[in-house]
Amino acid sequence: MHVLITGATSGIGLEAVRRLSEQGHQLTIFCRDASRAAQQLGWLNNSSTVHIVDLADLKAVDTICNQLVSEGQTFDVGVLNAGLQYTGHRKPRFSAQGIELTIAVNHLAHQLIAEKLMNRFKRVVITASEVHNPASKGGRVGQPAGLGNLDGLRAGVGSSMVDGITPFNADKAYKDSKLCNLLMGFELSRRKENHPVVAWSPGLVIPRSSDGFFRESRRANPLGQMLFAFFARDLLRFTERTERAGELLTSLVLETSETSGFRYLSNSLQKPGQHRFGPGDLSQEASDSKKAHELWMLSSALIKQSLERC
Ligand SMILES: NC(=O)c1ccc[n+]([C@@H]2O[C@H](COP(=O)([O-])OP(=O)(O)OC[C@H]3O[C@@H](n4cnc5c(N)ncnc54)[C@H](OP(=O)(O)O)[C@@H]3O)[C@@H](O)[C@H]2O)c1
Repeated sequence: MHVLITGATSGIGLEAVRRLSEQGHQLTIFCRDASRAAQQLGWLNNSSTVHIVDLADLKAVDTICNQLVSEGQTFDVGVLNAGLQYTGHRKPRFSAQGIELTIAVNHLAHQLIAEKLMNRFKRVVITASEVHNPASKGGRVGQPAGLGNLDGLRAGVGSSMVDGITPFNADKAYKDSKLCNLLMGFELSRRKENHPVVAWSPGLVIPRSSDGFFRESRRANPLGQMLFAFFARDLLRFTERTERAGELLTSLVLETSETSGFRYLSNSLQKPGQHRFGPGDLSQEASDSKKAHELWMLSSALIKQSLERC
């Protein structure tokens, strides 16, 4: 199988590519810098390729996608997995094109990949999160996800929240980006006549390493994050292991049944230490086909505008 994947140098994606590479699958990996690739992916099999591309730079994403198209590359699966959050930080950060970083990397870079390569993917897997859903356990904590009328996207460069109203909140920006992942997956499937797209939520995954998904939050609030990890992972056992999440991603990549259309699966917590992987609950907003279409169109326009200015 030939698999294109983002976010394979750490956490869930790294666990998945380890397994896929061992099984001899051909991997095309988008990695943000060469030293990170050397450090994390030195063991890759010979059929695999790493492309250095910072997803926080739409121009770099566009260039590499054009290269893959001109080479005539095709992929059995496109895995849109990279993601970041910097909850706890008060000031917004911006991408190379001046777009708030969470939305630029988690959503816009992946929409650009989807737009450019959609006809070259047989299937798409998107790593979303249950925090997109204000009714979920994780989604209830802090400000809920909500894209409003998408006025922030309409305003474009310099806007810090998608709804264009809420003052910047890094946690909400992350939840919003995961909501965008789901709406984008839904619209992508619709655009390609029920193309198989599966979005999934891995559950809360807090690695023991100093690296990983909570690295930025740890910088903002080391003690708070230490306590959060201790309670959520070690005491209450609300978390999923990184290895297991990587195994679930691998299983989605290797799925053989040709289920067409959009699906959402979630690895939800049943009781301490026990998760169940199966059909997940989409929020009302994530099931809004009109919003999915509007989000796609506005995102596409913002990407185009940003690329023209480069
Ligand atoms: N951990 C959780 O609790 C959790 C829960 C629900 C959903 N998720 C989702 O799961 C996915 C994977 O997260 P994880 O837990 O495995 O986190 P992680 O360990 O921090 O891995 C994130 C991956 O994304 C890459 N990435 C981030 N910014 C990038 C950029 N600008 N350009 C290129 N690559 C970039 C990272 O590259 P570097 O190695 O170079 O940093 C890394 O490979 C994300 O989409 C996340 O939203 C995670």
